[in-house]
Amino acid sequence: MGNGADERSGDRAEAARPSNRHSLRARPAGEGPPLLPDAGATRKREHLRINLEEDVTGRGITNGFERYRLAHQALPELALDQVDTAVTLLGKRLAAPLIISSMTGGFAEAGALNRVLAAAAQALGLGIGTGSQRVALAGATTATSFQVRDVAPDVLLLANLGAVQLNYGVTPDDCRRAVEMIGADALVLHLNPLQEAVQPGGNTDFSGLARRIAAVCRALAVPVVVKEVGWGISPETARLLADAGVAAIDVAGAGGTSWSEVEKHRAAIPRAQRVAGAFAGWGIPTAESLRLCRAAVPHLPLISSGGLRTGIDIAMALALGATAAGIAGPLLRAAARSAEALHEELLVLIEQLRIAMFCTGSGTVAELRRPGILAALP
Ligand SMILES: Cc1cc2nc3c(=O)[nH]c(=O)nc-3n(C[C@H](O)[C@H](O)[C@H](O)COP(=O)(O)O)c2cc1C
Repeated sequence: MGNGADERSGDRAEAARPSNRHSLRARPAGEGPPLLPDAGATRKREHLRINLEEDVTGRGITNGFERYRLAHQALPELALDQVDTAVTLLGKRLAAPLIISSMTGGFAEAGALNRVLAAAAQALGLGIGTGSQRVALAGATTATSFQVRDVAPDVLLLANLGAVQLNYGVTPDDCRRAVEMIGADALVLHLNPLQEAVQPGGNTDFSGLARRIAAVCRALAVPVVVKEVGWGISPETARLLADAGVAAIDVAGAGGTSWSEVEKHRAAIPRAQRVAGAFAGWGIPTAESLRLCRAAVPHLPLISSGGLRTGIDIAMALALGATAAGIAGPLLRAAARSAEALHEELLVLIEQLRIAMFCTGSGTVAELRRPGILAALP
């Protein structure tokens, strides 16, 4: 995610600083080649390091799922083995309704992480998004760090670009190139006005973007998904996006990773730290964003991400009308430990979801959406 100005100029200055400032805490399994000297990757490397080393969870805000309870059925009238977690999203079958949310790429360690994440998605039949490919559109050397089809030939694979880049020179043709670069099934455009606003030199002109997103939807042969990055989608924005022709929305609400907190840690001067720090509790909690968007755009598939941390959160998101859930931060940290740790983390999430479905008498995800299954707490 992020801004072109920073990638073009700020990163040149950063590249001159001591290289150990950017060293990551952990290397994923199977060490990659040395860091690419590509200046455009520096900001993404900082983002990754901060997400691995600092607590960047939003403060004073939750994902909102604690306000709901799934109806327990002591007599579920089905066998645990019969529970089928499969869903179809964007024309592709997922064995479990989980997407490893868009995160990284652009330099060697990120490429190694993408391969670990993608191999796990392939093994478990999940979806996966890459991080913003803006840097790879600018210089082809970094494209390989986003390419995972050799280890994940069958997964639902989502390309990624910042929607605001459409106001800064990225064209529908560039969007097509991003999709083709990685053999993606769909393009995700992310909306991150707050992140752009709190980072130095951010790309903050979001005017006329709905029209440009509509042009991308018309130009591409693959579906276009729009997501936030952790502050949620309002019903007004959901309607604008539906009118623009998007195929699905990922609400990416508040309660998990906070990008103003990430930018606060990245900020070099106290004023920028204070400005970013005030937004630690900003955004629409994920459950609320999901409920409001479900009502605003009843026919559009929704993905629920932002602060989901258990399979019960996933079950509640499905009950609230999401087709699938997405998780980013915790899966990144697990993948940075090892491929095995990531696999274990995903197995736990899927098993929690299966048991939540079993104990609500839901043999399928469709049954998890039956009326009355989810109660809002007083
Ligand atoms: C290290 C990292 C990098 C990210 N980079 C991107 C990105 O390039 N594009 C994007 O759409 N979202 C990006 N995100 C946001 C996630 O996709 C997700 O919306 C957000 O982190 C909230 O989910 P979480 O609370 O499960 O982490 C990134 C998240 C993390 C942790």
